[in-house]
Amino acid sequence: MEKVLRDGFIYMSQNKTLNSLAKKYGLRFGASRFVAGEDFKTSVPTIRELNAKGLSVTVDHLGEFITTVEEATENRDEIIRAIEIMAEEKLDAYMSLKLTSLGFDISDELIEDNMRQILTAAQAVGVFVAIDMEDEPRCEKTLELFKKLKTDFEGLGTVIQSYLYRSEDDINHLAPLKPNLRIVKGAYKEPATVAFPEKEDVDHNYLKLVKLHLANGNYASIATHDDHMIDAIIEHVKLNDIPLDQFEFQMLYGIRVERQLELVRQGYKVRVYVPYGRDWYGYFMRRLAERPANVAFVLKGMVKK
Ligand code: FDA
Repeated sequence: MEKVLRDGFIYMSQNKTLNSLAKKYGLRFGASRFVAGEDFKTSVPTIRELNAKGLSVTVDHLGEFITTVEEATENRDEIIRAIEIMAEEKLDAYMSLKLTSLGFDISDELIEDNMRQILTAAQAVGVFVAIDMEDEPRCEKTLELFKKLKTDFEGLGTVIQSYLYRSEDDINHLAPLKPNLRIVKGAYKEPATVAFPEKEDVDHNYLKLVKLHLANGNYASIATHDDHMIDAIIEHVKLNDIPLDQFEFQMLYGIRVERQLELVRQGYKVRVYVPYGRDWYGYFMRRLAERPANVAFVLKGMVKK
């Protein structure tokens, strides 16, 4: 049953008609549990509240399924504006973004140009930028662009997914750039030709990749809600005297809030991934796919509306 629900939500997350309907009708169905607001300004109080609790933030401007240069440009400008506000308001936050929202599927020149403009603005005010990783067919090009941009912009990171067979090689190839890599299990539906089909293997690879990246001497953003992963990493860093400033934990806004605060109390750096934007629908469906138990919460939200 869980698998049917999971596949159903992944399918719905990719449905363009549902996405545009969601955009038209605004943040609904309990999505505000996972999405801070439809624009950056309205998300600032949420970020402040998290900062006040000792949690750092990465803001994610939600944006997928765009098809025109105008939409890509609009997203770019929105991201730049948010970065500037972040600096003006002195928030403990950085920017995460998806290349598809900036024209990845339109042209290579467009995406590179948009990224350079964002990174120039971010560098000017000292804000870090992370490129989220999307589905596997886009992985190679994302990493190529990351490598190219990283040589010009120090404050840039990206994401590695432990469900992909290629990720161990990717970590080693990227290591000389000394990147801050967020390591995740992976949120898309991928075939067994490119990704481990068994969760056990994804989990095993997750720990292997985090340890490898730390052993390479690089900064790890350990993004998971999984206690088994978190506990194993804590044990590993203690045993190997890995300094506290070489890694941080990351979790999504609204998920495992108690564990986030407990880690802060234990002295670990924790960053919460706070999404905002009108394109909330695909993100929301992926969260439901991950944990169909959240559906009960959402159904309650629907009844209230
Ligand atoms: P997994 O899904 O394996 O669950 C293990 C356990 O964790 C569960 O049994 C439960 O105890 C707990 N748990 C998990 N989800 C929960 C929930 N919703 N509510 C309560 N408990 C829950 N993916 C991607 O492909 N590209 C990206 O760029 C990113 N970026 C990203 C940033 C950050 C900060 C995070 C935390 C995650 C991502 N992801 C991502 C998503 C990631 O790939 C993955 O889909 C989710 O983190 C779920 O995997 P977990 O490791 O959390 O545990």
